[in-house]
Amino acid sequence: MNQKDVIIACDFSSAEETLAFLDRFGGRKPYVKIGMELYYAAGPDMVRRILERGHRVFLDLKLHDIPNTVQKAMKNLARLGVDMTNLHAAGGKKMMQAAVEGLAEGAAEAGRERPLLIAVTQLTSTSAEMLKDELLIGTLMEETVAHYASNAAQSGLDGVVCSPHEAAAVKRANGQDFLTVTPGIRFADGSADDQVRIMTPEKARATGTDYIVVGRAVTAAADPQSAYLRCLEAFTGGINL
Ligand code: C5P
Repeated sequence: MNQKDVIIACDFSSAEETLAFLDRFGGRKPYVKIGMELYYAAGPDMVRRILERGHRVFLDLKLHDIPNTVQKAMKNLARLGVDMTNLHAAGGKKMMQAAVEGLAEGAAEAGRERPLLIAVTQLTSTSAEMLKDELLIGTLMEETVAHYASNAAQSGLDGVVCSPHEAAAVKRANGQDFLTVTPGIRFADGSADDQVRIMTPEKARATGTDYIVVGRAVTAAADPQSAYLRCLEAFTGGINL
């Protein structure tokens, strides 16, 4: 069983800003998500520095290319020592299987466990109209998302990124061990910002989701450490405080 955890989305644009933010957590080492913005600015050295400080890292680069290229890229990400990474399920099963192989190869070379691999089904920025009229995908959004999640499970992936509102259904369809990583988390007394379908950490816990990704509710808080601890306690019931 995976331990439930809160992943902080470090949506900063430089290494300095990110490390200064993480310094505010004292001896505590939260699980962090590094996305394209920071990775393309600060690169693998930045990721190594965060790993060396003792954080676990979800590298959110959403790979999508031919199977051979994705396999080789994943091999390099596994060598880097990240704990979790992701790709677009739209790349197809062969690409997803190649990605798992690449991660396993890189991890074996580095003498580490294979990083978890999570699929993005459809971006939340894709609307139902866009799916039908622009991308010419004839199935409904829910069917497309469920189908892509099932393709990911069949390809040996560990789980998907989804809304906390979908986590229980994803697990019912693909098994309780199929991981769900859920953004869109807000405190009941916080601002929704640009997120539409939000949920509190307490409610997310009740859905059975494995990881919640929390950005601005922590990064924009006056006291990020106490916002993080509040979130962790609400989501895990205090087990890893
Ligand atoms: O600040 P906030 O908590 O809204 O940040 C959520 C994080 O999760 C961001 O890094 C965002 O890119 C990411 N995310 C999301 N919705 C998705 C996938 C990823 O909000 N469907």
